[in-house]
Parts: sequence; structure tokens; C-alpha cells
Amino acid sequence: MARKIVFTSGKGGVGKTTVAANIGAQLALKGEQVILCDTDFGLNNIDVVTGIEKNITYDIADVIEGRCRARQALVQHPKFKNLYILASNHSSPDKYISPQSVRLVLENLSPQFDYILIDCPAGIEEGFHRAVASAEEAVVVTTPHLSSLRDADKVISVLKSYRLKSVQLIVNMVRGDMLLNGDILSPHAIADILKIPLLAVLPESDEVYLNTLSDKRRMFRIAAGNLAGGKIKYYDATRHYSGLLGRIRMGLKRGS
Ligand SMILES: Nc1ncnc2c1ncn2[C@@H]1O[C@H](COP(=O)(O)OP(=O)(O)OP(=O)(O)O)[C@@H](O)[C@H]1O
Ligand SMILES: [Mg+2]
Repeated sequence: MARKIVFTSGKGGVGKTTVAANIGAQLALKGEQVILCDTDFGLNNIDVVTGIEKNITYDIADVIEGRCRARQALVQHPKFKNLYILASNHSSPDKYISPQSVRLVLENLSPQFDYILIDCPAGIEEGFHRAVASAEEAVVVTTPHLSSLRDADKVISVLKSYRLKSVQLIVNMVRGDMLLNGDILSPHAIADILKIPLLAVLPESDEVYLNTLSDKRRMFRIAAGNLAGGKIKYYDATRHYSGLLGRIRMGLKRGS
């Protein structure tokens, strides 16, 4: 049976889709069978981030309405062969889709997979409920910024009304230079304030911003290892700023 994990945040644009897709790719590289399920209905985020938008024939609405079997709607990633994408219903965005119908589709696929990562839309309205209702575990993604932390706190309190096995935190877009200058809270301090365990620290990186999926992303490999239950390790977002070159980088940042 697959572990069903929802990636949520409350605030939009903090990196849920990016983080879920990259962790999914890293788990797939380790040999796990992974589904990335896009529940951001009306938009097509996961397929764009994973670069498979042109390969989609069916989406989740086609499965729910009986036009294809669940397995047929999965798009195998051309590079990460163990990674499968289940697209949201962007072809008919106004159609109502119930949380129960999404849950049934994922339960049906669950026995053949190790992980189902559910990408949640922003907010805590209907779409949030539809995504969380199918999950057994949650990963809350936040950035160190105040508005994101406030929304993460709200989401964590709403998640308490669901019977989830675990709720863990990923702090994304951490700037090493700001951390060293004391301009942002450390990921550990954020986890203490939000009172949930820290699963991973991800730096702000142009490489993430500019490319689709890559197999060479150490930070996501570490995050995937933590999620898979290995010995917990945290990416050091300040490493880029240590040593002589690092101090020069810091100086350049200050000057810019
Ligand atoms: N660690 C990172 N470093 C740099 N850019 C990032 C990082 N994580 C995400 N981004 C960028 O931030 C933007 C928002 O990311 P993403 O779409 O994954 O957020 P989201 O939380 O899923 O948004 P939404 O709430 O709209 O679904 C994207 O342009 C993405 O490339
Ligand atoms: Mg998204």
C-alpha cells in the first residue's frame, strides 16, 4: 500500500508543487514507485513542473467519470521511469469533483505503488479539503517569511481535525546569507514555533527556479531520504557562504 502524503501550505507560491515534484523524482530514483497527484483543479501545475504537459491524454476527471481506468490516466515520466503523474482536471475546470471520488481513485491505485504525493492548492477551502481527505500524512511547506508562517500555523491547526498519522514541516527558499545575518528565523526555530517536526530545509536556488526536474539536486535527495525514514539529515543553507569564497559572496550580496 502506498503512503499517501499531501503537500500543503495555506499561502500560495511557497513551493508546494516544486517540492512535491522534486521529492517524488528523488524517491523514484531510489527505486520507489511514485505517483504525483495534482489536486490543484483548474490549473496544471504538476505537469508543467515535471515537463510532461504534452503527454497527457486523460486526467483525474476522466477516471472519476469512467472514461478510462485509473492506471491509464497515469503519465510515466520519460526520465524518471518510476514516477507517474496524475493530472488535475484542467480540461473541464468547472466540474465539481468530490473529496470521496478523489480518495477512491487513489485508494484504487495504492496497492501498486509505494508513494502517492498529493499536491494541494493554496488556501484552506474546498480544494484543500479535497486534497487532505485522501491523505494519511501531511507535509506543510513554508518559507521563512512572516506571511507564510502565519498561514502555515493556520493550516496546521486545521490539519488537526483530520486523522493524520503525521504532520511534518519543510522550510523552503531559505537564504543562507540572510540566515547568517540573522535576518530570518532558522528552520529549527520555525519548527519550534509551529510545534511540528522539521522534515527538511531547502535553500532558495536559481537552479530550482529555472529548470524542470533534475536528478542532481542534493537538497531534494536529502529531503526524500528523510521522508523515506532514513537517518534525518538537514541541508546546510549557509554552506555556500562559508570559507573565503563564501565570505566574498556575502560581501557581494551586501553590496548589491
Ligand atoms: N527552493 C526554491 N528556490 C528558488 N525558487 C523556488 C524554490 N521553490 C520554489 N521556487 C519557485 O517559486 C515559484 C512558486 O513555486 P510553486 O509553484 O512550486 O509554489 P506553490 O506553493 O505550488 O504555488 P501555488 O500555491 O500557486 O500552487 C516557482 O517559480 C518555483 O520555481
Ligand atoms: Mg502549486
